[in-house]
Amino acid sequence: MGVTNLKYLERLNDRFRGTFGHLPTTLVRAPGRINLIGEHTDYNDGFVLPAAVSHLIYFAIGKSDHATQSCIVSLDFDERFDFDLTDMAPLPEGSWQNYVMGVAAELINDGKELYGFNLVFAGDVPRGSGMSSSAALECGTCYGLNELFNLGLSRTKMAELSQMAEHHYAGVQCGIMDQFASLMGKEGHALLLDCRSLQHQYFPVGLNGYSLLLLNSNVTHSLADSEYNIRRQQCQQGVEVLQKEFDGITSLRDVSKEQLDKVVDKLPIAVAKRCKYIIEENQRVMRFTGALSESNWYEAGQVLREAQHAMRYEYEITCPEIDFMADYANKHSDVLGARMMGGGFGGCTLNLVREGSEEALISGLKVAYLMEFGKEITPIEVRVADGVSLIG
Ligand code: GLA
Repeated sequence: MGVTNLKYLERLNDRFRGTFGHLPTTLVRAPGRINLIGEHTDYNDGFVLPAAVSHLIYFAIGKSDHATQSCIVSLDFDERFDFDLTDMAPLPEGSWQNYVMGVAAELINDGKELYGFNLVFAGDVPRGSGMSSSAALECGTCYGLNELFNLGLSRTKMAELSQMAEHHYAGVQCGIMDQFASLMGKEGHALLLDCRSLQHQYFPVGLNGYSLLLLNSNVTHSLADSEYNIRRQQCQQGVEVLQKEFDGITSLRDVSKEQLDKVVDKLPIAVAKRCKYIIEENQRVMRFTGALSESNWYEAGQVLREAQHAMRYEYEITCPEIDFMADYANKHSDVLGARMMGGGFGGCTLNLVREGSEEALISGLKVAYLMEFGKEITPIEVRVADGVSLIG
């Protein structure tokens, strides 16, 4: 067992015993994720290429002494929250409690029998970084409750229920990528997921002389969630117009560039740009996957550059800090490509760099970013890891 695991487990066990008077019955770890390519394609029934990583949330879970009274403790926020399974209205947006309560509510809604439970959690998935700490919290909770109450759920079902918790309790109409990656990740592999059929294939991420570097902008813009939901509506608006012209379209996944060109005059400009982005982003996933299989790192880097450009000008989900970081990296001779990762409006950039050049890139960008925005960037080292599991 890794040192990090042990450190967290000791803290969780101590707090669990201190609060509830006995040790937990179930210990779970749930990873955050990176996404190599394919942003916002998931809720358009498209393709994504994420991987679970070794930044994790750890959970200690046990039954409570009561049929419905439950308690969650966040060690990182140093907060305790008591609630009843019969009364689980969502708290204001942004409350961490929503992710746990949301999962419990979705399980009950799905006909599963739950009893009161106690849950303590802590972890090191940076929040607001685009690494899906919220999915890790949902999926770890779901997996833990599945174990504790013997619910017999498949991982796919757990991903779907966790996604619904995010919709109904966090208010973000997200796709399934984050939850699927957190539950289905495999060490050393990226996951090519067809978000319509949920069929998936694992691709080894062996970068041979190159490395993936995450740089956290340390900004999270407050409009991220509302803009996310607006993007989803705009895609739907595009689909409705396209459906009037062509048969067999249920989502942007089904639309070709030629079809879009034929209806472009009937679409608001913003909607046309969003549709073009999604069609091409799906193609970029395929190109990136091909490049990965052929170890063609130049092509992989080129795809990242194009994706950054498209997220900035077509999907319009970047922000000045991210654009600055990506531009800086994309001009650096040891960087093959860099782009923003995740839902948008802050978080991390993903940089494909020549191995050994990381320090030079980081120190140069650190100074430039500090001068421009008065803020630090934080490098995040990630290892591609397994999906949610029991500990011990
Ligand atoms: C967030 C959502 C995902 C996905 C990404 C963008 O992480 O939770 O479903 O849409 O943004 O690719």
